[in-house]
Amino acid sequence: MTLQGRVAVVTGAGRGLGRDIALGLAEAGMHLALVARTGQQVRAVAEEATQAHGVRAFPAALDVRDAAAVQRLVAHVEQQVGPIDLLVNNAARIERQELPFWECDVEDAWDVVEVNLRGPMVVTRALLPAMVQRGRGHVVNVTSLARAAARTGTYTGYAVSKRALSALTASLAEPLAGTGVVAVDVLPGLVRTGLTGSMPVWADVPDDGWDDAAATVHVVLDVARGRYDDRSGDVLDAPALAAAREP
Ligand SMILES: NC(=O)c1ccc[n+]([C@@H]2O[C@H](COP(=O)([O-])OP(=O)(O)OC[C@H]3O[C@@H](n4cnc5c(N)ncnc54)[C@H](OP(=O)(O)O)[C@@H]3O)[C@@H](O)[C@H]2O)c1
Repeated sequence: MTLQGRVAVVTGAGRGLGRDIALGLAEAGMHLALVARTGQQVRAVAEEATQAHGVRAFPAALDVRDAAAVQRLVAHVEQQVGPIDLLVNNAARIERQELPFWECDVEDAWDVVEVNLRGPMVVTRALLPAMVQRGRGHVVNVTSLARAAARTGTYTGYAVSKRALSALTASLAEPLAGTGVVAVDVLPGLVRTGLTGSMPVWADVPDDGWDDAAATVHVVLDVARGRYDDRSGDVLDAPALAAAREP
């Protein structure tokens, strides 16, 4: 299925994986709404997408937890750019300190849960009605195995948020069945970004120990094209799927 002229919303699109996903979708011809709190970063990515690929790209500096701002964005995009075919819930943060739960700042851990879970809930809730009404749409939740948390007992808020996000994806599968709307999780593996760079646990990972962001971009494009429409509610492991594609 061609993605040319279709419309995607990508959250956390100012840097890291979200930026790569946004530019990958633009290369495939999708118009974009790009969300993050740092306006300068989303504006720069939007400009790059437009200049390099000739698509329309609307930068939106907002917090994914702000339901009113998200609602205004969705209304604006649907009116000015077109019906939204793809939502990529990619925005997330991680705890500021690498500490066991019993030593952590629980307010910081809860803020992580809010951004990583309430954010996708707010944005998905805003977009789904129109997708269901049109009988078409894809939702990608970028989630994680939270291996650092499992290995070290740290980043508990992040681990809780990502498990809960997967539960959201799985619990949408049945009610969405037959609506034409598909929701999946995508696991990026371990990708060198600002987020992983802030985590002491990954400081010693050798250059060849990182996964390529291109694997995640590839899977998101495949989801948008309908390749995984029979996998609604499932988890798609981007590096594993990339390895399986290699000759
Ligand atoms: N990197 C990895 O190895 C890895 C592995 C597994 C899963 N993931 C997942 O992949 C996704 C992207 O991670 P990344 O490594 O690319 O992180 P990143 O480089 O830190 O980028 C995160 C993006 O999310 C935005 N963001 C954070 N809080 C936000 C909020 N409240 N509202 C709106 N935007 C917000 C940030 O911009 P502002 O701060 O300007 O808002 C930024 O654009 C996340 O869901 C992460 O959990 C990453």
